[in-house]
Parts: sequence; C-alpha cells; structure tokens
Amino acid sequence: MLEIKDLTVHYETADGVVEAVNNVSLNLEKGQVLGLVGETGAGKTTIALSIMNLLPKPPAHIIQGQVLLDGEDVLTKNKHELRKIRGKKISMVFQDPMTALNPVQSVGAQIAEVIRLHDKSLSSALVEQRAVQMLETVGIPGTRYNDFPHQFSGGMKQRVVIAIALACEPEMIIADEPTTALDVTIQAQVLELMKKLQKDFGTAMLLITHDFGVVADICNQCAVIYAGEIVESGTVAHIFDNPTHPYTIGLFNSLPSLDKDVKRLKPIGGMVADPTDLPAYCSFYDRCDVRTDACRKENPLLKELEPGHFVKCIHTAVQGEDEDHGID
Ligand SMILES: Nc1ncnc2c1ncn2[C@@H]1O[C@H](COP(=O)(O)OP(=O)(O)OP(=O)(O)O)[C@@H](O)[C@H]1O
Ligand SMILES: [Mg+2]
Repeated sequence: MLEIKDLTVHYETADGVVEAVNNVSLNLEKGQVLGLVGETGAGKTTIALSIMNLLPKPPAHIIQGQVLLDGEDVLTKNKHELRKIRGKKISMVFQDPMTALNPVQSVGAQIAEVIRLHDKSLSSALVEQRAVQMLETVGIPGTRYNDFPHQFSGGMKQRVVIAIALACEPEMIIADEPTTALDVTIQAQVLELMKKLQKDFGTAMLLITHDFGVVADICNQCAVIYAGEIVESGTVAHIFDNPTHPYTIGLFNSLPSLDKDVKRLKPIGGMVADPTDLPAYCSFYDRCDVRTDACRKENPLLKELEPGHFVKCIHTAVQGEDEDHGID
C-alpha cells in the first residue's frame, strides 16, 4: 500500500547540509502497523513529512526516492491532488495536539469540516451526526461538540486529533510520537484507543516512537533508524527475539525492564552521529561495541538475515549466533 523507495532528504542550513534521511526504503501493507524507532534527530519526522509531501522546501530537498501510495508517487503530485490524498487516504497525528487543532474553532466543527470536505454530498445534519459519533468513538461525550480546544486536557485534545484523523476513514495513519506530550497514564489510554481503532477500522499505521514498549504493544512490523538510515527491520518478533544490529541491541540494553538487573543497564556510549558530517562508512562505527577495521571500509548494505529480517551490519552473522544478544 505504501512503499518508500530509496528516499534521501537533506536540509540546507547555515551550518551545512543535514543529511537527515539516507536511502530509506520501507513498506507498509494494508491493515499493518509499522513501528519506526530511533533516537532524537534520526530522521523519523522527516520521513513522515515526506510521505505527506509536507516537507518545508526550502530548507528540505528531496535528493532522490519515491513515496508510492497504491503505486502512485506522492512526491510528484500537485497541491490539488495532494489535498485529495491527505485525509482520504492518509492522515497524520502529530506529537503536539495543539499544532493540529484550531484554537478558535469548536472541536466538533473541526471534525465536521474534515467529514464535509471529503463527502460533499452529506447534509449538514448528517455531517454533524457523524462528527458527534467520531467524538464518542474516541471517548469524548458528544455533548462537548461545541467546546473549544483549550477547554480539554492534553489527553483529550490528542483524542480529538485522532478523531479528526479518523473522521474520513483514511486507509492509513501516520502517527508521529502521538503520545509523547502526554503523561504516562493518558499515554496508555490514547495508545489503547489507537490500538482499538486500528483493529476496528483496519487502518494501516506508521507509528513513530522512541519507545520499544509501544512497538511491542501495537506493531506487527518494526524498523530501527539511526542517523537517517534503516539499520534493522523485520517483524516485531524478529526485532524483539533476535535483535541483531549493535544499535538495536544497544537500545534494548538501555531499556529498564523488570527481568533485568538494573545495575547492568547501560546507555549506548558515544555521541549520536552528526548528520552534517556523516562518514562514508558505517555511521554507527564510533559507538559500536563490535566494530573492526573492516567497518571503516564501506557503508554496509541492508542484508536479509532470515526471511523478512534485514540488518545493516557486516558482523551480523556473528551477532545472530550470539544467544543472549550481548546483554552482558
Ligand atoms: N526544518 C529543518 N531545517 C533544518 N534541519 C532540520 C529541519 N527539520 C529537521 N532537521 C534536522 O534533520 C535531522 C532529522 O530531524 P527529524 O526531525 O526528522 O528527527 P526525528 O527522528 O523526528 O527526531 P525527534 O525524535 O527529536 O522528533 C535532525 O538533524 C534535524 O536537526
Ligand atoms: Mg520527530
């Protein structure tokens, strides 16, 4: 359904060229949920904005690549064509609900507007009825239709954003850290809601997060991104049962968990790669536990370790045989 092919996006800044996304390919099939995981600055939002063709240009430049939606390249569409795609086919839920909500319009009217835009044949009464239904679907009483965003809590605002995203029954939702701005209990509620809606509506979802717990909870597929490159991808079982790229292993080791000795938790050493100055070889080299001289010879390609499980590391064979994934 969604196929990103060899996407490379740079930003031109006063400090140089930021190589934000480098040769990224991703696939999302109907009804599937793909988790995109990586540290801050890894290029996750840039990928999301590329899919919606919403990158700020300049400073962003798409150097190469395609974003195919049902076989058609979003990146070559004009404004009019894009408007049709956004909402009907894809909608987006951003990290901060306030960026998505209009502060001076009631939440009901904002949901209604989306419904009206995508089905102009509906009567006003029907549109309003559908908008009320959407509010209730996300757990907000229909009686709050005429309330304004500032009258809602953060979690409720994000529910409204989700209601807007779902209002025209898109085939796909791009959710960019949809719960990061919320506190932990509300996070769990919003995630539960997204999970339920995803199941009920069969919506495909690209879920951007830096939280593996969220991936385990909702996703079928997972891609790990480092310095603008996918370093590992596969099913959630591949990534959780057999994490193989040293970066993925590092992310797991840095997680607190109940069955691990807390004293042995370790953050990944070294500094995140500088996207204005990426090496021609493996960009994880400086932080890697298993690096060798060979790692500086070239930038490895993603290779398929087992069917559907891809890893971008020349030491994968060694890692794959390591039963406890280097936790010690
Ligand atoms: N408008 C912009 N102008 C210049 N550089 C940008 C712009 N937007 C993003 N970048 C840079 O591109 C790189 C990738 O940023 P991006 O926002 O895609 O990361 P991210 O993975 O979403 O991070 P986070 O987890 O913090 O949201 C970063 O180095 C960032 O500083
Ligand atoms: Mg981001």
